[in-house]
Amino acid sequence: MHNSSRRGFMGKAFGAVAGVGAVGSLVAMKKSWDPLPSVKAAGFTTLDMSIYKEGELVTEKWRGKPIFVLKKTAEMVAKQTEDQKARDIVVNGEHYMVAIGLCTHLGCIPGYNPDDETFLCACHGGMFDFAGEVTKAPPPRGFDIPPFKIEGNQMILGEAGPEYEAMKNSGVTL
Ligand code: FES
Repeated sequence: MHNSSRRGFMGKAFGAVAGVGAVGSLVAMKKSWDPLPSVKAAGFTTLDMSIYKEGELVTEKWRGKPIFVLKKTAEMVAKQTEDQKARDIVVNGEHYMVAIGLCTHLGCIPGYNPDDETFLCACHGGMFDFAGEVTKAPPPRGFDIPPFKIEGNQMILGEAGPEYEAMKNSGVTL
């Protein structure tokens, strides 16, 4: 009786130690899984939004994907519909379309025509407006907006800030 309860105690104590050991080794494994700081930084792209010119499309890169940046003209801002406004990214009072530059149909890179302010995907004829909204099928939705965070003049791609979360929650982007 005395022996068996002692064994029970030893068993529990061993189990507890083994448990602590398991957590310890999980923490160690997690540490070795975490990417190095340099690799983590590679997941972010910081854009200085003050360098862009109104009405000119610039293609940046984030995680190997093209990122369209279009600083909107005053006319574009004035004529925006509510749906277009919902995709608007405002930095220091300036309005931008920033989106992943891949057609949401099968992933081709659409071209921008500044004359009619539209994007045309040459693969199957899909079209998007200057706000990144789809205007002609087959693309099923507008350009996807990457996670972003705004800090002063900078836009950090790869980090989800409150503006991005609000867009995501309202279904503007995936
Ligand atoms: Fe763009 Fe098909 S990939 S329309």
